Amino acid sequence: MTRFATITGVGSYLPPRVVPNTWFETFVETDDEWIRDRTGIAARHFADDDVVTSDLALEAARAALASAGIEAHQVDMLVVATITGDTVFPATAVWLQEKMGVQCPSFDLNAACAGFSYALSTANAFVTSGMADTVLVIGAEIFSRILDFTDRGTCVLFGDGAGAAVVQPSDAPGFEGSVLGADGSAAQILWMPAGGVRTPPSHATVDANDHTVRMPNGREVFKRAVTEMAAACRELLEKSGHTVEDVDVLIPHQANARIMAAVVDRLGIDPAKAIVDVADVGNTSAASIPVALDRAWRVGRIEQGHLVLFTSFGAGLTWGATLVRWTMAPPAGGQPAGHGSSA
Ligand code: ACO
Repeated sequence: MTRFATITGVGSYLPPRVVPNTWFETFVETDDEWIRDRTGIAARHFADDDVVTSDLALEAARAALASAGIEAHQVDMLVVATITGDTVFPATAVWLQEKMGVQCPSFDLNAACAGFSYALSTANAFVTSGMADTVLVIGAEIFSRILDFTDRGTCVLFGDGAGAAVVQPSDAPGFEGSVLGADGSAAQILWMPAGGVRTPPSHATVDANDHTVRMPNGREVFKRAVTEMAAACRELLEKSGHTVEDVDVLIPHQANARIMAAVVDRLGIDPAKAIVDVADVGNTSAASIPVALDRAWRVGRIEQGHLVLFTSFGAGLTWGATLVRWTMAPPAGGQPAGHGSSA
């Protein structure tokens, strides 16, 4: 019998500290109205200084395992998509493994905001090939640690958080297909200049603020994001024998509301089918899709039998689309797990 893979658990976590747009008005020339109009973002969550990425990942992992009804020791592979890991090495996945009290193959994956698409495809491949039975996929970021708070064009866009999914074998798909892409020729339109071996850390790199996110041409990033996400979705739908009308739920990378609206428009999909969950979360990079997915599932927007289309775009440039037939039963409670709300 053919072995398929499906998502059997989801979870997410946002750190409790909520940072409203008005906070940025105190140190850069910006205002709440500009940020809301251009991005749809009203607030984001920032982790406290003593919290690391694997801490957020741990909370999301616990919620995902609980919703799958399994114990941590049943996980036989951990994949963490992140570009803001605890350390350059070893991987955030091994710090997480230690916190979860498990031992299994564990590694990080760097595809920036497209990380969750890459990680889901990896999990699907390991499970369908029989090389793993229970893969825990996590997107986790503390973006607030790599922001240049003197650059109003980037610092207002991002937030911290983690989202997770459990991928296990199934008799029927589950995963109906995926498309991944990358274009290294445009690497420098969204990047961090220093910290790797190309430009190791030095007093000069610290003085130049080169350990922070650089996005010299936000408009070009916007255009490429819309073009690549829409094209990846079309290619995947065609490849898997579906039309856009077959899709019940679209979860785009939660970069900003205008990018998502443009993707919806270009695809010609009913806007009511798109999950737009950026207002109180911001762009959490690799965590954005699993956070939006978990929150949508917990409030009943994703039901058993739905065809769910994920699409992502990020630094690299990288992008992806994944099509999943939803097999999880509705949540027992109905409220998002582990979402703080205090200032
Ligand atoms: N507050 C006030 N003004 C601002 C701010 C701000 N926070 N940021 C930029 N501006 C100013 C610019 O300095 C510029 O001023 P100028 O005309 O005096 O030079 C003006 O606003 C227009 O700047 P643009 O960059 O042309 O503004 P645009 O309408 O393109 O919006 C934005 C900027 C929101 C960054 C947009 O380009 C965008 O959404 N790009 C996608 C970037 C993104 O989401 N990146 C995240 C990572 S990639 C991903 O996740 C897909």
